[in-house]
Formats: sequence, C-alpha cells, structure tokens
Amino acid sequence: MKGFNRKEGQLFIDDVSLKDIAKKFGTPVYVYSANKLKENLNNYVSSVRKEDKVCYSVKSNSNIHILSLLSELGSGFDVVSGNELRRCLEAGAKPEDIVFSGVGKTKEEIRLAISAGIFSINIESEEELERIINISKDLKKQAECTIRINPDLSSESHPYIQTGLKTSKFGVLKEKVDSMARKASESGSVNLKGIASHVGSQIFDKELILENLNLLIEISTHLTKQGHNLRYLDLGGGFGISYQEEKELKIDEVLTEIISVLEPLNLNLILEPGRSISGNAGVLLSKVEYLKKTPDLNFAVIDSGMNDFLRPSLYQAWHDISVVETKDKKELFYKVVGPVCESGDTFGEERLLSLDENSILAIHDAGAYGHAMSSNYNSRLKSSEILIEDEEIKVIRRRETFDDLLRQERDV
Ligand SMILES: Cc1ncc(COP(=O)(O)O)c(C=O)c1O
Repeated sequence: MKGFNRKEGQLFIDDVSLKDIAKKFGTPVYVYSANKLKENLNNYVSSVRKEDKVCYSVKSNSNIHILSLLSELGSGFDVVSGNELRRCLEAGAKPEDIVFSGVGKTKEEIRLAISAGIFSINIESEEELERIINISKDLKKQAECTIRINPDLSSESHPYIQTGLKTSKFGVLKEKVDSMARKASESGSVNLKGIASHVGSQIFDKELILENLNLLIEISTHLTKQGHNLRYLDLGGGFGISYQEEKELKIDEVLTEIISVLEPLNLNLILEPGRSISGNAGVLLSKVEYLKKTPDLNFAVIDSGMNDFLRPSLYQAWHDISVVETKDKKELFYKVVGPVCESGDTFGEERLLSLDENSILAIHDAGAYGHAMSSNYNSRLKSSEILIEDEEIKVIRRRETFDDLLRQERDV
C-alpha cells in the first residue's frame, strides 16, 4: 500500500516499517513519504493549466532532496530568502519557476533574484520597489515583479498564521497600488507582470479564497485599464489541512472554480501551497524516555523537544500522536512532553496511549514547518530526515553531531 498505512498494528510508509526505521536510524527522526508528496503536488498540478504555476512554498520544508523531487515533477517554488532561492537553484529548479516573497529582502537578496532571472519578486512595500529599481538599474537587468497586496481579509486561523490583515506587516494596501505601478513602469527597469496576495494559512473557507481572487481581479483589471500589462494573479498559499478533524477543502474543485473565472479574463494563476503539499507527508518519530507518574498526571517524556518540532508550543497546534506498534496493553491518558526546560515543551494533553518505556511514537502531519523550524535550543542536536519511496529508504539529512554544533564557535 502507498503512503502511510497500518498492518497488524504496525505503522508503515509504503512497505517500510517505521519501527524498523527508528531502530536503524535512531530517534528523533523525521520520515517522509515521497508518494504522498507526489500525490499532494499532483492534486494541484493536475487541476491547473499548463501556463499556470504551482510554486511550492519552500519555507514549509526546505530539504534539498524534497525540492529536487518536487522540481522533477514540475513544481515551481515560492521562496522567502536568498538562501531558499539558492537551495532551489541547487535542487535543479528553473529560475523562471521561482517567486520571491517577504517583507525584508536585503539588497544582496534582490541582487541575487534579479541576476538569477527569477519569475517574480513579490514587492511588499514602496520602499522595496525603490530598492529594486535602483538595483536593477545598477545591474542593467530588468526586474520581473508582482505587487503583493495586503487584502485586509481575516481568516479564522491562529493569529500568528494570519497574514492578510490591514495591521499585518505583509503586502501593500490597495490605495498604494496605482502610484507604485506607475513608478514601476516609469522606471523602465521593472516589468510588472501581476498582482499577488496571501490571506494566511489553514484556510478552509472557499468564499474567503474567492473573495481574495475577486479583489486581485478588480485591482488587475483597474491597472490594465491604466495601460499596465498584467497577466498573473498570485493567490498565495494557505489551503488548510486536517490536523485533527478539520473539514478540508477539495483542492481540485476550488481550482476548477478559480480557473473558470480566470479563463475568460485571459489571466494566469500562481499558487504558493506549502503545508498542503508537505504537511501530511511526514511524521516525527520519537522514543519514550520515561513514563513519569505524578498524583495528577501521567507524563510520557519523549526524546523530541520543542527544538525539534515547534508547532505545538508556538501555536498550541494539535497533532495526532500514535504508537508505531500498537500492543494489547492497557491504555492510559498521557501528557506527552519533551525534555526541554520549558513548560511549553508539550506535544499533547490527555492522549490515550498504550505505552512502555522505549515505545516509539509518531507525531503525525509533521512534514510542514517541522524540521524547517527546528533549532539547537538546550544544545540539542538537530534530527535526521529520511525519505521513503516504495522500498527505497534514503537518508536526506544526517543527524547533527556535537562537532557540528560547536564548529561555528570554535572556528572563529
Ligand atoms: C507568502 C506566503 N505564501 C505561501 C505560504 C504557505 O502557506 P501554507 O503552508 O499554509 O500553504 C506562506 C506561509 O506563511 C506565505 O507567507
């Protein structure tokens, strides 16, 4: 069976037992299913037209092997730093398939983006436009750009993953767009090819996506009337995934509806999906170190911490936790915690699990914003990453060592 599946109580990816992976490679370890990544990307690619672009949001999982896999399958990329851009180029991505968002692009990053000839720099402020014009004149090379609009739309997600509110730092308010478009075109060094926006993450409301689409159409139509030649609408990412029991959007249905609106307008679509491609394609495997009883609670202290996987601590995000090999032992309610010296280092409360010391747990849907957000807090070493496809097991990042940890402090 492809992807995650359970056979006789044991968790597998394709035909590979995750218990065996934990035994062979140690824990904590991130394990990804290549087939699930492919399936998730294909949900997008098969629903859009050839001239539209699906630009996987690299921030959600930036492992270069995953970027290569997605690039080979025709994915473009949404990057938010010069180093993410470099990663994509190293992974074999074509510059013309890369868009670059982010409010704080440095001069060096803009220089890199223009020199590489990426598809678009998504401009996030008037000040950034000024900088892009200067650099492109200096390089004597036109900058390909879109303007990122702040849509002033609210989603119901966690405040930290809402990016489209008027008060947020992202994008420019629509009142600014006219003068920016004029400035871009008068500069002769910026080719304004579209309008972009990203409402936020974990969007489950189709109407909100369509509202964002309509806003972009309205602005683009207006600018076209002013003589600008805009062909692309970048709707950002944010399609929600089910971590607990959320009702997911049907990506193909929403995209079919979006394309039916864009087709008569002769406009092309850009999408920047992150977690809806990488999220449910990965798990974090951890070993139980201690089962600690207190008068009020049973703690399962595991060997992963918030440094390995930050989402539960940062966003109080809910992730399913299961035992990779279920046993006929009594189930108890556990608070699943890590070893980091913070009370927030908690992965789940009141989880009904049947555990022994040394049991291996899988924290599910950890493929997005998992390893990519990990740190060395408490001098903990970053975990390894493994990619599984059918029977093939590929180590795509080795576990960090103590020497790696100290290298930058010693080599000074
Ligand atoms: C500009 C932009 N595009 C795309 C994404 C990807 O969002 P998601 O992973 O929810 O699809 C983000 C996430 O923060 C973003 O800021």
